[in-house]
Amino acid sequence: MEIAIFLAIIVFLLYKLSTKNFGYWKKRKVPFLKPTPIFGNFYECLTFKKSIGEMLQDMYKQIPDKVFGIWVFNKPHVVIKDPELIKMVLVKDFQYFSDRTVAADEKADSISSNILFVLRNPEWKVIRKMMTPAFTSGKIKSMIPLMAEAGDEMVQYIEKRVNLPTVESKEICAKYATDVITSCAFGVQGRCFQKEDAKFRQVGKDMFEPNFTNGVRGISYFFLQELVYLLKIKFIPPNVSEYLKQIFWSTINLREKTQQKRNDVIDIILKLKQQGDIDGVKFDGDIAVAQAIQFFLAGFETTSSTMAFTLYELCLNKSIQTKLRSEIKSVLKKHDEITYEAIQSMKYLDKVVSETLRKYPVLPFLDRMCNADYKLPGTDIIIEKGTPVYIPMFGLHYDEKYWKDPQKYDPERFSDEEINKRHQYAYIPFGSGPHNCIGERFGLISTKLGLVNILNRFEVEKNADTPIPLKYSARSFVLASTIGLPMKFIDSNRRASFAA
Ligand code: HEM
Repeated sequence: MEIAIFLAIIVFLLYKLSTKNFGYWKKRKVPFLKPTPIFGNFYECLTFKKSIGEMLQDMYKQIPDKVFGIWVFNKPHVVIKDPELIKMVLVKDFQYFSDRTVAADEKADSISSNILFVLRNPEWKVIRKMMTPAFTSGKIKSMIPLMAEAGDEMVQYIEKRVNLPTVESKEICAKYATDVITSCAFGVQGRCFQKEDAKFRQVGKDMFEPNFTNGVRGISYFFLQELVYLLKIKFIPPNVSEYLKQIFWSTINLREKTQQKRNDVIDIILKLKQQGDIDGVKFDGDIAVAQAIQFFLAGFETTSSTMAFTLYELCLNKSIQTKLRSEIKSVLKKHDEITYEAIQSMKYLDKVVSETLRKYPVLPFLDRMCNADYKLPGTDIIIEKGTPVYIPMFGLHYDEKYWKDPQKYDPERFSDEEINKRHQYAYIPFGSGPHNCIGERFGLISTKLGLVNILNRFEVEKNADTPIPLKYSARSFVLASTIGLPMKFIDSNRRASFAA
């Protein structure tokens, strides 16, 4: 009896504690979604029933207003739907939202806490300025030969798998993207196409494979910072950062000894290291390592997913695939090889990749931390200091207000005429403002170069294993299909010669 009373008191206290802030949004006259005790509005995400992106998309659909409130456990968070207000938060009033919500414990995790995605101000501003020159068009252009090597190896790898009943396209794209990034960021060959158990590929899987540990890591970093500090959870798994750290320093030491130049990120980092203090920050040690690691982590999953989702849509939409292949072949006839200029002149390819990033924005939401009380323009709503702000990009990209028949894959949405009809902030796959994706140009060019290599030689066809409709993994904070993206590859040149 006493135990029952004791348990009842504990349950009652837990209930009271978990619901104590549930009046927060009503008091401020902000529309909100009804929360449940303990979980707030995050039950489906915290129990791995839905991915973060999909859950925010569902919420987006439920509330018609421009802004609404939710709770993660008992902590109030704000979600912004309106493109004009999104522009204010990301760009115009950036000074109120200059950090993300994600944060790492500097002492426990000196690598993660120095990557731009996690770093906070004032250090973020200094490091972002230092790293910007690594991403100019000139620098990216000089890395094209490194990307092309990976493209050639990918074609040879697919040649050996042509006409097999099923091939995992996501794995091929992941091997390509890993080889591109290891070459451009670490100055070494990833050899993912030569060795099925290549270490770099393994490290990438450890970071992004949708599993329980990575699911907990993603949810904690984006929504439960207290847990990150309490349990010393690392954004980058320790085996991943240790391996990349070791490769980084051995490459740096070799370059310093041999004075070899390779037009890659290591060259840029060496130059920054030699400059000593910049704006009070010394570019050395874990700060330097973190920049190369960030290139790897932010670059390979985003690029490979965008490539694989494009192949997926092309195998479901044959006429779009044929049209794209004919553009690729006609442009390549004029250029002897796949150059930067050749890729940039492929206008239909640009529309296709843009439509992929609308339907499948790899990072399907943006987050910012409000650092001073802020009155949302045109409303009476005050976002209080310390309130996390979320922008549900996945919801925005499927909103019928901006996209007719949003489930349809239609690259013509990105004709100049259609673009001009839309609010610019209805489409934000790379984020926006000072915290936007620093690797946008690099990501786009390596995605396109990979696709050009594949589609110039092969056709992709759906088979019985291709997931229709697609189901997203709830254990990944980036968009990922639960069962990968299997399909069939056919040699398009051989088919063309048979047809002739
Ligand atoms: C298709 C490819 C890619 C997509 C869709 C993508 C998407 C994004 C998005 C949505 C953000 C958050 C932006 C914001 O909060 O406003 C971001 C940030 C970032 N991305 Fe990318 N990304 C891609 C490729 C890359 C590549 C190739 C690199 C590096 C080589 C990279 C490095 C970064 C970094 C460092 C940040 C944090 C920037 C900062 O906070 O200062 N990304 N990316």
